[in-house]
Amino acid sequence: MCGIIGFTGASQAAPVLLSGLKRLEYRGYDSAGIAVQCEGEIRMLKATGKVDTLIERYGQDRQMNGVCGIGHTRWATHGAPSDINAHPHMSMDGLFAIVHNGIIENYAQIRKELIDEGVKFLSETDTEVIVQLLMKYYDGNFQNTVLKTLSRLEGSYAVGIMCRDFPGVLYAAREASPLIIGLGAGENFFASDITALVSHTKNVIDLDDGEVAEIRSDSISIFDHAGRPVEKTERHITWDVAAAEKNGYEHFMLKEIMEQPNALKATIDPRVRDGRIVLDDLDLDMSCYDRIMITACGSAYHAGCVGRSVIETLCRIPVETELASELRYRDFVMDEKNLVIVVSQSGETADTIAALRECRSRGATVLAIVNVVGSSIAKLADHVIYTWAGPEIAVATTKGYTTQVAVLTMFAIWAADRLGRIEPEEYSEMVSALMKIPERAQRTLDLNARVRKLAKKYHDRKSLFFIGRNLDYSSCLEGSLKLKEISYIHSEAYAAGELKHGTIALIEPGRLVVALCCCERLFDKTVSNIQQVKARGAKVLAVALESNRRIFSEADDVLLVPSTHRLLVPIVEIIPLQLFAYFVAGFNGCDIDKPKNLAKSVTVE
Ligand code: G6P
Repeated sequence: MCGIIGFTGASQAAPVLLSGLKRLEYRGYDSAGIAVQCEGEIRMLKATGKVDTLIERYGQDRQMNGVCGIGHTRWATHGAPSDINAHPHMSMDGLFAIVHNGIIENYAQIRKELIDEGVKFLSETDTEVIVQLLMKYYDGNFQNTVLKTLSRLEGSYAVGIMCRDFPGVLYAAREASPLIIGLGAGENFFASDITALVSHTKNVIDLDDGEVAEIRSDSISIFDHAGRPVEKTERHITWDVAAAEKNGYEHFMLKEIMEQPNALKATIDPRVRDGRIVLDDLDLDMSCYDRIMITACGSAYHAGCVGRSVIETLCRIPVETELASELRYRDFVMDEKNLVIVVSQSGETADTIAALRECRSRGATVLAIVNVVGSSIAKLADHVIYTWAGPEIAVATTKGYTTQVAVLTMFAIWAADRLGRIEPEEYSEMVSALMKIPERAQRTLDLNARVRKLAKKYHDRKSLFFIGRNLDYSSCLEGSLKLKEISYIHSEAYAAGELKHGTIALIEPGRLVVALCCCERLFDKTVSNIQQVKARGAKVLAVALESNRRIFSEADDVLLVPSTHRLLVPIVEIIPLQLFAYFVAGFNGCDIDKPKNLAKSVTVE
């Protein structure tokens, strides 16, 4: 999704903006641009395609001397990707420039009004109405003009605004789109997220919905839409630049796959004390709830599917899962006896936020499992448990997903204990298995070379199936999504027992079926399905527990993962599937970290 950045200080703005845009690339985009205040005018540079193209143009041109500017990576919503539709946008009189992430829902009406008044629009974007409104309302007072303009907007926005008459001054405002202020020494910033700023500062202020900031090189003032000052506290980021860089890996995705043992350790270890799960600050009375609903999008939803089985097994409370994009528009039944668990790596996914709001309006209590501290979902929920996965840059989530599963599992053990529904032996057994999970993940990563070989063997397939039962099936959903996302190969996850109801018709000689057989209780059942597809000529790549050697006589290729507690298996069995997707995409020459059409953080519907 779009990323924005702004800088005001003493050094040249353009290089700061361009390097910030490079770091925002992971969010997904199709064009980019910057605007800088130079010698009494605002100059813009834009490019369709990669930030590198923009950097090349800047190198050829270099007419952008100035110490205050704004930048943008655009993920097209209104109007195709093009130089004209790329941000920044400028007012007709060249007085204002703006960058925007979000969607202005009443833009058509404002656009018509302005056209009737003689304004000429250059682009097809919703954003351009904001900058033309700024021109319309300008009365010599920058702040008044911004506030009056914002009062006309409906929808979501994180905006950064510059005015030719006010050198060195930026305005930033937020409504339902992420935005932070970065505090430097003699320089200040705004950005969609901290990755854009971490090489300059680790001190930030999180802007909330309805807040506006005036940013100068030596001061920051924050106020509400009525112009009343708002007191904010500073936050210090603990991770460093290296965490947002590739550290010698060819891709962020591989780096993040390899980081999983550490991410799991960081998520689990601080929450286990003397053999007990300690979820500090989680002040939930579990006896108040007779149903749990887990809602999320994408991989976070798949983590929720694992969570459903684990929580239901241990807590004996009915648990449902639903895609946030579906739930938000359904006339669903929910009340204060429902606990809703919202799962999100970014904490900014628009559909997940909307579903959260719908659930809260019906009286449910919301527990969020989120990776990004201070994100919208973390703020909107009643309770939060953070996954401590560190920054995740690759669009396809890996460590974000496994840490979500770890947190859901810890929550399940914690809640079952509160409800008195877990025997002390099972409690200790699960906690000790959980503590060993980082080591199990590390050992699973030893499959790296073997998975690469298999990826080489199978990378030219046009379509394949993932089959499994129960927890294995949840991992199939995630494994199949990983492959689709980054290699563009069609794949489908099928509950193995459903094969006979449709998919088996598509099994033909040479078709690859990835069979997950880590669910020991159902091993024989899945093996029957393997035999059915093999009888029709399929090739089977099986993933099974290392304790289970029987699989060798059933499948064409086998990947063995370390044994663990049956409810923790999803954390290890997904790792070879992540690696498989990664290597297949690599052999097919795909842009692994930035797959086409996808965005890391889906902040619009
Ligand atoms: C996008 C990402 C996925 C992610 C999904 C939900 O589609 O590419 O990796 O699972 O959004 O994002 P969230 O930040 O809410 O977990």
